[in-house]
Amino acid sequence: MNGLDMLLRDVFTLAIVCNQWGDTGKGKIVDLFAAEWADIIARGTGGANAGHTIVINGEEFIFHLIPSGILHDGAGKINLLGRGVAFDPRIFCEELEILRKEGMAYNHLRVSKDAHLVLPHHLVLDRVKEIDAGKLKIGTTGRGIGPLYVSHYDRTGLTVNHLLNKDFFAKELKRSIARTVRQLRIDDPEVVKGVMQHEHLEDGIYYHPEKIFDVDAIIDKYLKYVKEFRDMICDTDRLVQSAVIHKKNVLLEGAQGLLLSVDYGAYPYVTSSDPSVNGLAKGVGLSEREVDLTLGIVKAPYMTRVGEGTFPTEMGGDESAKWCGNTKVTRAAEEKRFTTGSVNSKNDFIQGVFIRMFGGEYGATTGRPRRIGCLDLPLLRHAIKYNGNNIILTKLDVFNECEEIRICEAYEYVGPTYNNGQEIISPGHRVEVPVPSNEFLKYCIPIYTRHKGWESDISGIKNFQELPQELRAIIRYIKSSTVTNIPLISIGRDRNDTIFD
Ligand code: IMP
Ligand code: MG
Repeated sequence: MNGLDMLLRDVFTLAIVCNQWGDTGKGKIVDLFAAEWADIIARGTGGANAGHTIVINGEEFIFHLIPSGILHDGAGKINLLGRGVAFDPRIFCEELEILRKEGMAYNHLRVSKDAHLVLPHHLVLDRVKEIDAGKLKIGTTGRGIGPLYVSHYDRTGLTVNHLLNKDFFAKELKRSIARTVRQLRIDDPEVVKGVMQHEHLEDGIYYHPEKIFDVDAIIDKYLKYVKEFRDMICDTDRLVQSAVIHKKNVLLEGAQGLLLSVDYGAYPYVTSSDPSVNGLAKGVGLSEREVDLTLGIVKAPYMTRVGEGTFPTEMGGDESAKWCGNTKVTRAAEEKRFTTGSVNSKNDFIQGVFIRMFGGEYGATTGRPRRIGCLDLPLLRHAIKYNGNNIILTKLDVFNECEEIRICEAYEYVGPTYNNGQEIISPGHRVEVPVPSNEFLKYCIPIYTRHKGWESDISGIKNFQELPQELRAIIRYIKSSTVTNIPLISIGRDRNDTIFD
């Protein structure tokens, strides 16, 4: 039996989630299980704020909505977007167009009739709110995600199914937009007008000088979009539930990461969905009790974050946060500017820059440079409370040339006395598992352990025993100090660069 078969013995429903701030290399792992194992690959949370790179005909494409398993259409495999996905038809159509151009099949794609629709007013609200907030902005991806979930809970949301019922769609859209217009009237009209010219809003075709939104233009466009995917719309809950009953292999593909969860993440600098295994299961019409195995991905021995919010182990601290928040900083700009230095630089900020360049850590959705920090075990201990203790380590190869590796094993709390329920946290307290709030984390100073790096190329290694002893020691340390199992690790981009324990 090979490693994959052993791991998935008696597993029918497998969830792949992320235990950090997203961008941990989920796409590669999902692709691996999609190719070798799954009958159904289902997404259940997030929307076009997610981004993954897929290689087609040797060329790289960035997809946001379509699941990472899309290239596997053999033997009746189905890829679907579940009810919990924030569904943006414009982006979905763009992605279909790429597949069509590249000659890739997509008749194995399904879209939940119950998924909520991202509408132009969600995009406007998201962007205007961020401009308004100034320094207090969240640093969202601008994809309308927050306002979409607000509409959902505010009971003014529309679903994919509305697109199949023109009159319902028109009526509900007017109702939903009327509320938004009242809200936008208090904002600067010039800001609103400016935002409405954005390319994601079709360069201004939805703008109306008096009413703000030209509702007919929206109806027109959305009804055009749906023509492209009408046949894919169905009750995906039933499809997934029936697959579970018939013991098919169901792969649930997470988006974002636990630390971005609106329920369990570092609030309020989070996304508006719940990327935990609970949220993911719910987003495809299942209960998390029906998930046989959850694998939580952990980038190691470093981590990244995009957007605002405290990042205790960030290399270069505020300097890095500020640098990465500058919209002029791109991959090309960094490569031009930082020609001397290395991943072993004694300057934390510079070390972070080189890890970013080495690891290709630039947002797939926004192109923003991702903030780089050391692996944070306190936050990992928090994440596994919700996602369980089976983890995967990815991107280890990024550290091939590192002489010394720092890992945060706990924090020293230095803020004002904090009442955490009945627990009193005073200055000087050692924190092993933090309160996941931005206010709390901002007073947490990392306590690091130092580990000797492996300083060698690990590509091509096929089993744990062959890994350099320094790396094995680091893996043992992560396991024992978080009480986790690590059944596989990823040491490169290729599907073959995966080692099962
Ligand atoms: P939103 O999801 O666009 O509302 O953004 C909220 C926060 O989540 C921001 O800090 C984003 O940078 C972050 N975020 C959203 N999606 C992703 C992702 O796929 N990877 C990393 N960060 C994300
Ligand atoms: Mg991503």
